[in-house]
Amino acid sequence: MSTPSPHFSSSMPAYGGAMDEIRTGKSKATSAQPNRLARIASGQKVEAVIHEQVLKETPSVEIQHFNLWYGKKQALHDISMPIPKGKVTALIGPSGCGKSTLLRSVNRMNDLIDGLTTRGDILLGSDSIFAPGVDVIELRKRMGMVFQKPNPFPMSIFENVVYPLRIDGQRDKSILSQVCEKSLRGSALWEEVKDRLHESGLGLSGGQQQRLCIARAIASDPEVLLLDEPCSALDPLATLKIEDLIGQLQSEYTVLIVTHNMQQASRISDYTAFMYLGRLIEYGPTSQIFTKPHLKETEDYVTGRFG
Ligand SMILES: Nc1ncnc2c1ncn2[C@@H]1O[C@H](COP(=O)(O)OP(=O)(O)OP(=O)(O)O)[C@@H](O)[C@H]1O
Ligand SMILES: [Mg+2]
Repeated sequence: MSTPSPHFSSSMPAYGGAMDEIRTGKSKATSAQPNRLARIASGQKVEAVIHEQVLKETPSVEIQHFNLWYGKKQALHDISMPIPKGKVTALIGPSGCGKSTLLRSVNRMNDLIDGLTTRGDILLGSDSIFAPGVDVIELRKRMGMVFQKPNPFPMSIFENVVYPLRIDGQRDKSILSQVCEKSLRGSALWEEVKDRLHESGLGLSGGQQQRLCIARAIASDPEVLLLDEPCSALDPLATLKIEDLIGQLQSEYTVLIVTHNMQQASRISDYTAFMYLGRLIEYGPTSQIFTKPHLKETEDYVTGRFG
């Protein structure tokens, strides 16, 4: 059983004032209580409900009162959530609710967007990712990212995988070969490609390409893997392979995954966070979020009544 980090217990922001509501047993939204989602849509501030089990985990990443604007439009509102170490956490919610924005904030991919402003903080371990002097390239190596559409580079399978090491100037052939094999084994692709490492990565099937991208993401030995709908362009069989792989990866990495697929979230994640209109609504163990969430709004979403 993991213990909360000292940072967590001493200085964490109040994670969801609605916890009091749960402790007093008034956890389900009732008809007397105006619907949270309607209140959010009308611009009211509504506290997230975060289950205690999440707070007992050791966090790898801590998102603290994080707000983000694209120009004048606010896309994330006061999000505070720990991402448990060595677990799979799924972000779910209707299209446009800010899942990808939040994921891209965690490794500062959003830095590249003009007119973007943020407030609040994100910690990796105990360090702010926004602290002066943080090397963003190094940060992204600690947090590998895989996108919706597989994006292998137009180079060989081998060079795709060792790309992060090449950028670092690594030329030692035996080190490159070792990392290539270890990463391809780690992404469950080795057996399929070991005899064609010098063929183009673009010649692989979609599912293989996505596993190649995962191999590239783990080649730099990251702490965190950020996956944005990694299976949405894949057929069911390739999807199952990636899901199996995520299950295997979680012992070594902290995984934060965006998915539209409720079954997938319930199959592969330990924790699930439900977002709506740029806000965190409820965050808890996946089994509870899908079977007995504290909020009726979450229940309506996971059972497909809206979204
Ligand atoms: N580069 C951008 N510039 C301006 N607005 C943006 C940008 N990217 C996203 N947005 C807006 O921010 C909001 C959140 O978008 P985001 O892509 O994070 O949602 P999402 O939950 O990932 O949606 P989906 O499930 O459709 O992928 C949306 O209103 C979107 O239009
Ligand atoms: Mg998205």
